[in-house]
Amino acid sequence: MIAPSILSADFARLADELAAIEGSDWVHVDVMDNHFVPNLTLGLPVVQSLLKATDIPVDCHLMISDPDRWAVGYAEAGAYNVTVHVEAAADPIAIARDLRAAGAKAGLSIKPDTPVEPYLEVLREYDTLLVMSVEPGFGGQSFIEHVLDKVRTIRRLVDTGHLNLLVEIDGGINATTIERAAEAGVDCFVAGSAVYGAADPTKAITALRDQARTANHRFLPA
Ligand code: DX5
Ligand code: ZN
Repeated sequence: MIAPSILSADFARLADELAAIEGSDWVHVDVMDNHFVPNLTLGLPVVQSLLKATDIPVDCHLMISDPDRWAVGYAEAGAYNVTVHVEAAADPIAIARDLRAAGAKAGLSIKPDTPVEPYLEVLREYDTLLVMSVEPGFGGQSFIEHVLDKVRTIRRLVDTGHLNLLVEIDGGINATTIERAAEAGVDCFVAGSAVYGAADPTKAITALRDQARTANHRFLPA
């Protein structure tokens, strides 16, 4: 699955920018609060408008402090998947239960240097794990290779039935990095600059998906 990030889109033309990625599986929306991360983007009112403007499932990545208080609003608004950062969450299990009760998938994200092992029990409550492959805050950064060790760990736990979740990766995914991420076992690839920086975003999505499929035959239709 490919999830273009509108962080790299033209914020003055968001409806057009959603139309430009029609073939994508999810649309990734980066919510930043200038507190958990040193950047500020958009919040719930803009997400509510985006939800009205598209049929693509909306994947909200909340890079915010106090997700215990704010995350559920995005689920209630109709986001398909709502991801919070474990580094910011006081009670990640309660958050997951709130998100699911509000009808969304629950996502947990870990920064590049956050280990995943302490959260294996918590992850039983979650539908997606978002592995950050750049420091959260900005688009267009370089891929941090060592996070793929965490992807491999989680892939093994999912494949052996110990966890049941989708592995998503975010940051620096492009034509040169997507194959390595696919080989490691990622299911869903967020791509901002690689999609919106391309002359034809739809073609970029198809090309990335084809590369991921070729790199990991798990994705090929039976
Ligand atoms: C970074 C965001 C990413 C960002 C990725 O904090 O979470 O979603 O848009 O951008 P690229 O794909 O350009 O690295
Ligand atoms: Zn993101």
